[in-house]
Amino acid sequence: MTQYQHATQKKMEELRKKSCVRILAIETSCDETAAAIIENGRKVLSNVVHTQIPLHVPYGGVVPEIASRSHVQKIGAVVRRALDEAGLALSDLDAVAVTSGPGLVGALLVGLNYAKGLAYAAGLPFLGVHHIAAHIAANYLSYPELKPPFTCLVASGGHSHIIVVEDDSTYRLLGRTRDDAAGEAFDKVARALGLPYPGGPNLERLALEGDPKKYRFHSAFNEGEGFDFSFSGIKTAVVNRMHNAAQAGEELNRADLAASFQHTIVSILADKAVRAAKAQTGDAGKRLALAGGVSANRALREAMESRAKKAGIEFFCPDFAYCTDNAAMVGSAAYDKLMRGQTDDLSLNAVPYLAIDEWMRGA
Ligand SMILES: Nc1ncnc2c1ncn2[C@@H]1O[C@H](COP(=O)(O)OP(=O)(O)OP(=O)(O)O)[C@@H](O)[C@H]1O
Ligand SMILES: [Mg+2]
Repeated sequence: MTQYQHATQKKMEELRKKSCVRILAIETSCDETAAAIIENGRKVLSNVVHTQIPLHVPYGGVVPEIASRSHVQKIGAVVRRALDEAGLALSDLDAVAVTSGPGLVGALLVGLNYAKGLAYAAGLPFLGVHHIAAHIAANYLSYPELKPPFTCLVASGGHSHIIVVEDDSTYRLLGRTRDDAAGEAFDKVARALGLPYPGGPNLERLALEGDPKKYRFHSAFNEGEGFDFSFSGIKTAVVNRMHNAAQAGEELNRADLAASFQHTIVSILADKAVRAAKAQTGDAGKRLALAGGVSANRALREAMESRAKKAGIEFFCPDFAYCTDNAAMVGSAAYDKLMRGQTDDLSLNAVPYLAIDEWMRGA
């Protein structure tokens, strides 16, 4: 057994008796360099997010190589600030956690290797966390009393999943997008409307001034009985509407287009998520959560809440600070894994396409 393995084994034994467990969590899966310190998986002692948005704006989207380089430049200062804001030193921590997938491989590797280095140097247990499990766990930061089972809609830049969280280590996938993710559709339509990156929040802002019922974007697939989504056709319908209008010399109201597109996506997401929850037996059918970057969208939060209420389902969504990528949510998910006695060794690799159930099986 190496000196590091010996140190972490001792730490794991001590952890079982501790009432206060503090995890340093790191997130670098895409274009946010983030670090946080979380106590007992629910209390945020610090949450530092350095966004790379200004670097990617000129390109209209995330450039992976620029993202990796910026993570390398910022990670040290971001982790230092997370420790300083919490008023803690490395020696006060109990574990180091990091997003190990899915995400951009070069970006993931920066956080992963930094976390490994810290864990090794400080003799702390090391844990890899699945990015989508972390988005779901963002709900625990806002509702410390929330426990599985519950149904969750994950709508983010790369994912649109309906998942039943059976317990803190069992995720059952009910539905997923067949093509674009919800956030991706927001970003692509925003781009077509001439809005800068990141598209989602900018489109939401424009939609505030528009009429959500002005244009109808019909979507036969999403009206079906299943729980899978398809957003690519809706995106294309908006773009075609714009092209047709341009060819006919017709003036379109961009705010109306944005509002109508948002209304269509939000209705599909909220209707399916509530229907999925209603189809579950037991507590998973009584509680519905929202997660992922698109959960920052007010129209979606409101639609989910009102539909859930009508169906007699309790609704949960993270505070705005924990919707888009952050490390606090990584610390929350890591705590549950640590309490199950699960850690990873330092050979853990970044996995760009990591299914949530593969992660649970220890991939
Ligand atoms: N207010 C909003 N309205 C609509 N979409 C939004 C809003 N805020 C953020 N988004 C969208 O959320 C996405 C970013 O979310 P997130 O940071 O979770 O994505 P990601 O980490 O790149 O993808 P994933 O989590 O699937 O790996 C972007 O597509 C962005 O446009
Ligand atoms: Mg994300």
